[in-house]
Amino acid sequence: MNNAISLGPETVVAITGASSGIGVALAELIAERGARLALCARRADRLAEIAARARSRGADVLDVVADVSVESEATAFVEQTLDRFGGRLDVLVANAGRGHCAAVEDTTTEQLHSMFAVNVYQLWYLVRPALPVMKAQRRGHIVAVSSIVGKIAYPFNAAYVAAKHAVVGFIAALRTELVETGVEATVVCPSGVETEWAQVTEGSPIGELFAEGIARSRTIAHDRGIPRAPLQRMMKAADIARQIVEVIESPPGRDVLTHEGSEQLVQMALRSRREYEQAMLPLLLGMRQAYEARR
Ligand SMILES: NC(=O)c1ccc[n+]([C@@H]2O[C@H](COP(=O)([O-])OP(=O)(O)OC[C@H]3O[C@@H](n4cnc5c(N)ncnc54)[C@H](OP(=O)(O)O)[C@@H]3O)[C@@H](O)[C@H]2O)c1
Repeated sequence: MNNAISLGPETVVAITGASSGIGVALAELIAERGARLALCARRADRLAEIAARARSRGADVLDVVADVSVESEATAFVEQTLDRFGGRLDVLVANAGRGHCAAVEDTTTEQLHSMFAVNVYQLWYLVRPALPVMKAQRRGHIVAVSSIVGKIAYPFNAAYVAAKHAVVGFIAALRTELVETGVEATVVCPSGVETEWAQVTEGSPIGELFAEGIARSRTIAHDRGIPRAPLQRMMKAADIARQIVEVIESPPGRDVLTHEGSEQLVQMALRSRREYEQAMLPLLLGMRQAYEARR
């Protein structure tokens, strides 16, 4: 079955996390294609600005201030989208997400709940009211933005890593319920992207820990005479947005690893966790040193 959706004016696309980063780039790209847009985020001023920009490109846009980690607000976003666009919803991009930075023993229960609420529970809150509509249309696509850490792991953000693994599992399970319904589901797994994400993580900014860990890893690799850990090139939000548009217009039927080198890392970890940890050793030790130095 071909579940491709073209992003013309007949198509309604809902995007969460549309006030910054990947969500903004995606909203701009889809606005240019002429689809009708429903956008949500918590920061009203930022969201209004993005919505106005998309309208200036000719798009019909609904903007809803909502915290998708709160069930009633996430559900209301879907309901308002359906009200506004004549009961249609073709594409739902669950993109809103927040990271975290703390060792397992330093992670509070509050942070754990928060990580799962925004990154995982959002999916149920949004998908439950959206699916009956998409199934009735026999046309729809649920896209969830997970992360490379939905497949592998980096240290000192286990709550986020576990939550993003859950996103991958959710989409895999959802797909098995959707065969031959005309509704598609895809998980997108980016590695590093130049957005606000690495600075607004709960606990402390994980971007700084990574930067310091990478610097220290060079010395560790040199002192031990071992290769540096494989690092991936950062990408821009617009690069990821383009890949998401491709996913919608041509569903790949597989999990999407957006960055060069991701496939090799994932295959290595699947083959042997120990092999992966050895390859990453300078970075893992460098990040541990950096984390301990900040305690
Ligand atoms: N940047 C990376 O390196 C990277 C790598 C892998 C995966 N990802 C994933 O990519 C997705 C997009 O992140 P980004 O890189 O674009 O980061 P970003 O610039 O921080 O954008 C995150 C967006 O999510 C929204 N958001 C956060 N919590 C929310 C909540 N409770 N309710 C509603 N909206 C919420 C934020 O808006 P408000 O603050 O206004 O609510 C913002 O619009 C996330 O799921 C992230 O985990 C990012």
